[in-house]
Amino acid sequence: MSNTNLNTQSVLSMKGEGYYSQKTIGAKNAIDKMELLIDQALKTIPKNDILKIADFGSADGGTSQQMWFNIIEKIKNSGDNRQIEILYTDLASNDFSVLFRMMQGMHGNSDFAYQKKFENVFVHGCGTGFHDQLMSDNSLSLGFSATAMHYVSERPCLIQNHVHMVGSNEDEKAQFKKQALKDWETILINRSKELVSGGRFICINFGIDEEGRHLGNTGGHNMFNNFAKHWKNLEKDGVITNEEFINATFTQHYRTIEEFRKPFDDPNSPVSKSGLILKSCKTMFTDCPFKVHYNNNKSSMTSREYAETLIPTMRSWSETVFKTALEKRKPEEINKIVDQFYNSYLEEVANKPDGHAMDYIHVVMDIEKV
Ligand SMILES: C[S@@+](CC[C@H](N)C(=O)[O-])C[C@H]1O[C@@H](n2cnc3c(N)ncnc32)[C@H](O)[C@@H]1O
Repeated sequence: MSNTNLNTQSVLSMKGEGYYSQKTIGAKNAIDKMELLIDQALKTIPKNDILKIADFGSADGGTSQQMWFNIIEKIKNSGDNRQIEILYTDLASNDFSVLFRMMQGMHGNSDFAYQKKFENVFVHGCGTGFHDQLMSDNSLSLGFSATAMHYVSERPCLIQNHVHMVGSNEDEKAQFKKQALKDWETILINRSKELVSGGRFICINFGIDEEGRHLGNTGGHNMFNNFAKHWKNLEKDGVITNEEFINATFTQHYRTIEEFRKPFDDPNSPVSKSGLILKSCKTMFTDCPFKVHYNNNKSSMTSREYAETLIPTMRSWSETVFKTALEKRKPEEINKIVDQFYNSYLEEVANKPDGHAMDYIHVVMDIEKV
C-alpha cells in the first residue's frame, strides 16, 4: 500500500541538530532582505502594551536570528521599551532544542542571541502547525514567515512519474492546487484571528514567478527534474521499488501570484471579510550563494568542491521525503540508499557543473489586518 494522504508532520522536518541553518545561507539571505519592510511596518503598527511577534515555520531559528537581532536592536535604540514577546512556531517534529539553545547563545553565532543582549525580550516556542490558530485573538502585532507555507497540510495524491507538483501531470497538479488554496485560506483566516487591528503579517513564500521560474529552476538545470531522474535511476537499477519511487512525493505546492492573491481579490471571500488586505505582493529572486561563491572562485575551486557545497543545501530540506519513502526498510539500508541518491546527483554536478544551482524564487507579501 502506498502511504497517501500523509499529513505534513511526518514527512517534512528539516534535518535536525542545527544542520538546517548551517547549510541554508540562501534562505538567510532572503530573510535578511525583509528587514526594511518589517522595519517600516513596525512604524505604523499600533503600539499596544506588549509587542508580540511570531515567526511561523522557523525551523531552528538560525536563518532569521540576525534579522530579528537587528530589528530588536532598532526598536530598543528608538527608545521603545515595551516588552517584546517572540513566538517561534514549527511542527512538533522540529528540533526545538537547537532553536532554544541558539536563542540562549549556546549554539550558532552567539553575537545574535538577542534574548541575552536585550532586556525584556521573551522567547517562546509553539509546536502546533500554522494551519491552526496559535495565539489568542487580537494579540499578535507582527507575524512573519519565510519559506514555509508551500508545505500543504496533506498530500492530495501521490505523484506517479515525478517527485514534485512542478513536474506532475495536469490532474495531479489540479489536486495540489486545490489543496494549497484551501490551506492558504485557512492560514490567512487564523492569522486574521491572531492579529491586532492594524497588525501585519509579512511572509515570503516559495512560488512560481511571472517567468515560470521557481526554486532550483531559473534557467539552467531543473533541480526537481534532477531529483526525479536520480530517484528513477535507483528504481531502474532495482535499488528501490516503484512504490518507493511514488512515495517520494513532496508535500508541497508552489503557488503562482494569482493563487496567492485569490482570497484578497474577492471582496466577498472569508479572508477579505475577516479584515485582511494585501498591501503588496511581488516576486523576489535570490541567488544561490554556493553558485555565486563558485563563480567567483573558479580559479581555486574544483567543480567537485562546488558540488560538495551545493548538494548538502538541497539535502537539508529534501532528505526527509526520500527517507520517508523508504520507511519500511531498516535504518542502515535507508541511509545507504539516500546517500547513493544524493551522491549520484553530486557526481552529475561535479562532472558538469554548468547550469546547476539552487536560486530562490519567493513571493513576498505584506498583509494588514484592518
Ligand atoms: C524550509 S524551512 C524554512 C525555515 C525558515 N523559516 C527559513 O526560512 O529558513 C520550512 C519550515 O516550515 C516548517 N513547516 C512546514 N509545515 C509547517 C506547518 N504546517 N506548521 C508549522 N511549520 C511548518 C518545517 O518544519 C520547516 O521547519
